[in-house]
Amino acid sequence: MKMVELIQQRRSCRIYTDQQVETEKQEELKKILLWSPTSKNNRPWEFVFVDDKLLLQQLSECKPHGASFIKNAPLAIVILADPEKSDVWIEDTSIAAAFLQAGAEDIGLGSCWVQIRNRFHASGIKASEQVKMLLNAPTHLETACIITIGYKGKERRPYNNDDLLNERIHHNTF
Ligand SMILES: Cc1cc2nc3c(=O)[nH]c(=O)nc-3n(C[C@H](O)[C@H](O)[C@H](O)COP(=O)(O)O)c2cc1C
Repeated sequence: MKMVELIQQRRSCRIYTDQQVETEKQEELKKILLWSPTSKNNRPWEFVFVDDKLLLQQLSECKPHGASFIKNAPLAIVILADPEKSDVWIEDTSIAAAFLQAGAEDIGLGSCWVQIRNRFHASGIKASEQVKMLLNAPTHLETACIITIGYKGKERRPYNNDDLLNERIHHNTF
């Protein structure tokens, strides 16, 4: 499939089948993450592949809204970074996450982004700290997001031309 078609078809997937993501597919996803570009090639990120059921359940409670479906995903990839390694770690982790989602779609998997940075656990602590505690991650890291991955349990309508906000595109000047 051409990249443009893949991007048109990708929709957030929050419902997955019970099928596990095969090791070979996980290996492809690891390469995609590690090939993603970073400013000055600093590569400040760290990626944690989580398929442990208890851990998935605990991650699904890292913030009150928009994370509950993590517990039913066969795989969640937590994306963290060391802010000391790059002043643009947010961009670097976001690009890795976006590449990951496109790559997952390309190999027949659904995915959804769960925002962690700037979000809070029900107790009031940062969701990033809660996630790091669960993963036993080094304290100097920040958690950017979690990407859930799995076989789609429900197909969603792909985007079409009517969905385009064409007025947001400008030529030369506003
Ligand atoms: C930066 C970012 C943060 C997001 N955070 C969440 C989230 O915490 N929980 C969630 O269920 N979806 C989250 N999403 C998914 C969006 O809700 C989704 O991409 C948007 O509604 C458009 O739908 P689509 O992905 O099907 O095109 C996030 C997406 C982005 C890009």
